[in-house]
Amino acid sequence: MSAPLRVLVTGAAGMLGSQLLLDAPKGTVAIGTDLVPARPGCPEVAAAGYDLTQDEGVRRLLADHGPFDGILHAAAYTAVDKAETEVEVARRVNAEAPRLLAKAAAAAGARLVLVSTDFVFDGSGRRPYREDDPTQPLGAYGQTKWEGEQAVLQHHPAGAMVVRTQWLYGPRGNHFPGTMLRLASERPELTVVADQVGSPTSTLELSPALWHVLEHGAPGVYHGACEGRASWYDLAVATLEMAGVRGVSVRPCTTAEFPRPAQRPPFSVLDCNKLATLRGRRLAPWRDALAHFLDRHGPSAV
Ligand SMILES: NC(=O)c1ccc[n+]([C@@H]2O[C@H](COP(=O)([O-])OP(=O)(O)OC[C@H]3O[C@@H](n4cnc5c(N)ncnc54)[C@H](OP(=O)(O)O)[C@@H]3O)[C@@H](O)[C@H]2O)c1
Repeated sequence: MSAPLRVLVTGAAGMLGSQLLLDAPKGTVAIGTDLVPARPGCPEVAAAGYDLTQDEGVRRLLADHGPFDGILHAAAYTAVDKAETEVEVARRVNAEAPRLLAKAAAAAGARLVLVSTDFVFDGSGRRPYREDDPTQPLGAYGQTKWEGEQAVLQHHPAGAMVVRTQWLYGPRGNHFPGTMLRLASERPELTVVADQVGSPTSTLELSPALWHVLEHGAPGVYHGACEGRASWYDLAVATLEMAGVRGVSVRPCTTAEFPRPAQRPPFSVLDCNKLATLRGRRLAPWRDALAHFLDRHGPSAV
């Protein structure tokens, strides 16, 4: 019998990383790392307290818990608006940590999946973005994530995969459907942006796809998101309807009416054909995935 594969999951106390930890396939030992040992409702993180932006942190992590056959890198600086004023912090987490991990993975012959974002695009496109479409981040978060993409592809050309995703929600962490349900319990009317379009994506759908890419993907970029498209307004209306919330009205508004420090891409639907070909299946349509999530995990759980 061969030894189980050992896979490091970074950001394992976060929304996506915690799901990745739970979804480790049979025959694989997933070792989670994050800055903290656990967050409420999350599985425990075995290798906590290593700062991945530091050479020393990565070296100690590998010495203490390695060797690894693969790395699923979900840790990131994800505060999109705050990144505008904390660019160097965001850069260390989103670009320097991937660079250090890619170098370590290349040296060890381990495969690496970097989770990235639709924010690498400016959103001026008219059709779903393909992996090789030109990138043009609008803000510091997207820019630093793009730098992370380049770093892993450059430092580990033989074994690094980048998977761009978008509009994530899941059983743990803070996310848009959870915020809408909370606000709906506090107010009679919600005002929600209707001129940004993407694909809401459940971590329950994305996580198995990331495991598949780690095992079977060819080096390069993939897009992974639920099928179909929606505005934030559509997502808010669907969330309240599916959760059975009555008596709260949802009013559409424009991005201009709801200014934020970081500019968002107005259209960032991702073309996921390459991932579908690799896996032989697509992620679920966003409405089905949302219904499944709310049925299993909410609304009380969000
Ligand atoms: N959420 C979305 O809608 C979305 C959309 C597209 C792409 N993505 C990408 O998907 C991935 C997962 O996102 P998520 O929403 O699950 O993020 P999350 O919940 O914020 O989790 C990220 C985790 O990384 C940890 N981390 C930050 N800096 C670190 C460091 N220096 N060393 C070690 N760990 C560190 C964070 O800890 P702290 O919280 O203590 O900082 C956090 O637990 C990210 O790569 C993100 O860019 C997310």
